[in-house]
Amino acid sequence: MKGRFISLEGGEGSGKSTCLAYIQSWLENKSIPYLTTREPGGTSLAEDIRQLVLNDREESVHDLTELLLVFASRAQHINEKIKPALDSGLCVVSDRFIDSSFVYQGVARGGDMDKIQTLSDWVVKECLPDRTILLDVPVEIGLQRVQSRQQSDRLDKESVEFHEKVRQGFLERAYKDKGRFSIVDASQSIKAVLKDIDIALNAAFHLDKY
Ligand SMILES: Nc1ncnc2c1ncn2[C@@H]1O[C@H](COP(=O)(O)OP(=O)(O)OP(=O)(O)O)[C@@H](O)[C@H]1O
Ligand SMILES: [Mg+2]
Repeated sequence: MKGRFISLEGGEGSGKSTCLAYIQSWLENKSIPYLTTREPGGTSLAEDIRQLVLNDREESVHDLTELLLVFASRAQHINEKIKPALDSGLCVVSDRFIDSSFVYQGVARGGDMDKIQTLSDWVVKECLPDRTILLDVPVEIGLQRVQSRQQSDRLDKESVEFHEKVRQGFLERAYKDKGRFSIVDASQSIKAVLKDIDIALNAAFHLDKY
């Protein structure tokens, strides 16, 4: 049987990594075989592309270059890692996936949504997550949480306005596709957030009565 595909989405400091660690222990507890991964990246080549996308550089990065690099890494990630894992029955949990492209390269950068949809149809095809957990947090709280970090990448350093567009972009996508998305209020305490993650996971694995 094919494994379930779950993605975690949200802005900077929304708690994706924190939730990923919790999901990992949840799956172990239920003895569900799984694999965790992230985007951009997930394979050796895709991680190399991640560096190209996120590293600071003197040269400015054209929006189209960023878009195509992200999709090039995704093609590698899907075909060499995600699909084989799902086909072998593993549950795959990805820290970011296709929705981040629609939101970062589309909404926030003002990219052509039709072109991104075309790329998605081409690269992702039917390999969409069964469930996407959106961690929604006000921009200033998210940025505050990651402020103490030593390293910030090219996208972390974007303006508050950019991150605001990211937040709204995610929310809009989630409202339009409630069948796939679970929206979690990530401004709550970690304990309360993880309780909501639990509810979302139970729904994703049909372990509840909803
Ligand atoms: N609900 C929460 N309340 C308070 N602090 C939190 C909460 N969730 C996460 N944090 C803390 O905020 C910081 C950022 O969380 P985390 O790394 O999980 O976010 P992220 O979404 O993965 O960030 P990034 O976008 O940089 O990958 C961490 O120090 C984490 O412990
Ligand atoms: Mg993270």
